[in-house]
Amino acid sequence: MGHAISTCMEFTFDHSSSASTLPDQEEPPKSVFTNSDSIEEIMYLHHVVLKHYWGQNYVSPVVLSSDNETKPKQVLDLGCVTGLWTVEMASISPTTNFVGVNPFSIFPKSAPSNVSFYQQNILNGLQFDDNSFDFIHERLSLSDFTKKQWEDTVLHEIVRVCKPGGWIELLESDACICDKGKVLRRIGRSCKKLFLSKGLVPNLGQFLQTLLRSNPQLTDVHYIENDMPLGKRHGKFGELAVRDLMLSWNAIKIPLSQIMGIAPEHFEAILEAFINEVNVQDLYWRTYRVIARKKTLDEMNERL
Ligand SMILES: C[S@@+](CC[C@H](N)C(=O)[O-])C[C@H]1O[C@@H](n2cnc3c(N)ncnc32)[C@H](O)[C@@H]1O
Repeated sequence: MGHAISTCMEFTFDHSSSASTLPDQEEPPKSVFTNSDSIEEIMYLHHVVLKHYWGQNYVSPVVLSSDNETKPKQVLDLGCVTGLWTVEMASISPTTNFVGVNPFSIFPKSAPSNVSFYQQNILNGLQFDDNSFDFIHERLSLSDFTKKQWEDTVLHEIVRVCKPGGWIELLESDACICDKGKVLRRIGRSCKKLFLSKGLVPNLGQFLQTLLRSNPQLTDVHYIENDMPLGKRHGKFGELAVRDLMLSWNAIKIPLSQIMGIAPEHFEAILEAFINEVNVQDLYWRTYRVIARKKTLDEMNERL
């Protein structure tokens, strides 16, 4: 099992589960944000901006806020980083156990007793039994997994540890976040080239829908889009969303500048041009959720 930062729940992990059939151990991946001085601020901005514009922390048909018979007992937050989603959800759902997983440790020092954090790399297989979680949440991993990793390992592991009848929810955005604005389109096109050059999936929304729909263990696949307005004309959250994007692009400014054919010190001017553009045009940041339910055993048997 990975390194547990806070374990206060009863949970058994089988190290001999099918996870062990996955590829040889990989080094902990370096997220583009790993070396960014702003990682905590970026994660905070992701969390508050997404929660505000979506009006909620998840959209799957599971009820976490009140006690009921069908309430999820075990929830996994994959790639939880600083654990903001994990801790907030655990606070409003004290009778559910939450597990946050990240390949490097940047977990909060204190957390509610129904939260555990583990340092694990999904590319080496998650160290959890098959069918462990009622609900699996993951978000913003556009820069983390290649097409091959999504196809060969990431979705396989997510589906494996999801209980039959459990829900999977992925919140993502594409490299091009908006088809308006000259500067914003230029940044988007450059991000797209950069991600393609690394084997990542710049049009993740389309890709994930197809991937989930073609998985025989999944059903009820839905795609829900949300164009989040950008800029101070849209109030505090429009402004925070702009800051979030600027810090995120800044974290990859060296390879982005190369692709744009400019010196990294001139990247600041691109960001300034973006601010000017966002102050006069209606621009948005498209995010989307792809959700799916893992078939129950009866549903699986019907197929045979
Ligand atoms: C942009 S962050 C999203 C953070 C968080 N889910 C949120 O929305 O606030 C993507 C996260 O995925 C994690 N990640 C990247 N590669 C991973 C891997 N191989 N296994 C598990 N998590 C991974 C990164 O460490 C990073 O914390």
